[in-house]
Amino acid sequence: MSRLGILISGRGSNMLALADAVAEGRVPGAEIAVVISDHTDAPGLALARERGLKTLVVERSGRARVEHDRETIARLKEHGVDLVCLAGYMRLLSVDFIEAFRQRILNIHPSLLPSFPGLDAHHQAIEHGVKWTGCTVHFVDETLDGGPIIAQQAVPVLDDDTVETLSARILIEEHKLYAAAVALVVGGAYEIKGRRVRAKMS
Ligand code: GRF
Repeated sequence: MSRLGILISGRGSNMLALADAVAEGRVPGAEIAVVISDHTDAPGLALARERGLKTLVVERSGRARVEHDRETIARLKEHGVDLVCLAGYMRLLSVDFIEAFRQRILNIHPSLLPSFPGLDAHHQAIEHGVKWTGCTVHFVDETLDGGPIIAQQAVPVLDDDTVETLSARILIEEHKLYAAAVALVVGGAYEIKGRRVRAKMS
């Protein structure tokens, strides 16, 4: 069994989508070990509890990144986590964190990376005037939203889109894409060559 640790900071819709996918058998071989928030008031925490998931808060405020990460790593290890899924986790990870789970940390980002990394990806896409954007699931490395790409889904930008309408359209795809990408990684039928993540033929 792969034990997933999901890190959230906010509303937690991707966390719930992963929980649904695991519960419905769409991520064979996976179970959710723990959901950790870096804020006590993250709305996603209550949603996770309602699903009967184990939740924890590792409060970030007032703490240096390295020290905060050290506690988060310890909690993940205590819960036997072997794959970390960032789901709207709004804190950059320290090198120590990345090394503790090398190629075992996934993130979802609401753009077609490498376009529009960082904050406000939807706003960036609209302002740039692209006709297509989307979402990306990637391995997390030391770069900002720059690790090897596991899966992407394109979404059109419509002429009258606002950040709200575009985010809502992308979010539907995020929920499907994240579950599929986690299933691929848990299944292990992939290889990473340089930046390329490719399905491995059996
Ligand atoms: C999503 O758009 C995700 O791509 C980004 O942060 C947002 C989190 O939303 N990294 P939610 O908390 O999963 O609802």
